Amino acid sequence: MKNLVVFYSLEGNTKLIADIIAEKTNSDILELKPKKKYHNSGFKKYFWGGRSVLFKEKPELSSYEINIDNYENIFIGTPIWVGTYAPPYNTFLNQERIYDKNIYLFACHGGGGADKFYKNIKESIPKNNFKGQIDFNDPLKENKEEVSEKVDTWLNNVYLNN
Ligand SMILES: Cc1cc2nc3c(=O)[nH]c(=O)nc-3n(C[C@H](O)[C@H](O)[C@H](O)COP(=O)(O)O)c2cc1C
Repeated sequence: MKNLVVFYSLEGNTKLIADIIAEKTNSDILELKPKKKYHNSGFKKYFWGGRSVLFKEKPELSSYEINIDNYENIFIGTPIWVGTYAPPYNTFLNQERIYDKNIYLFACHGGGGADKFYKNIKESIPKNNFKGQIDFNDPLKENKEEVSEKVDTWLNNVYLNN
């Protein structure tokens, strides 16, 4: 069974979770990298990132070697931007055909939760088996061991028991 962790991360929170999941599940990793980086500080970060969500932008991504067809289990992780997935996923979901996979969702946010992301991505790639979902409130600010344990518990429930 081949596993893939796909993620985008502007400030490292989602990357932290992606790396933990990849290590624990022996997954390959695909980091989505917009060719033109988003601002990552201050007002500009929210302005340009928020604008990109609202305008449904599809930022061009750096090319990657990973072939989605080779994987059975796919973990998909994003920071929550304006309630939903970050725009690099507009591009990714548009350029890939993802179906018949076991999908596990993970998200990082600043306290607003991830419900709209779960709903939106399930609507975007409907022909898949959604096995589990988990979200974190800015995990870089939290105790690393507790974060890692939370991931462990989740994987035990949704991944290892399947
Ligand atoms: C453009 C932008 C929009 C955001 N919108 C939300 C939001 O709607 N709800 C929320 O809880 N956090 C929001 N955040 C905070 C991030 O989701 C949160 O800090 C997350 O942990 C960042 O993940 P990263 O370090 O992987 O980029 C937003 C951040 C940015 C940059």
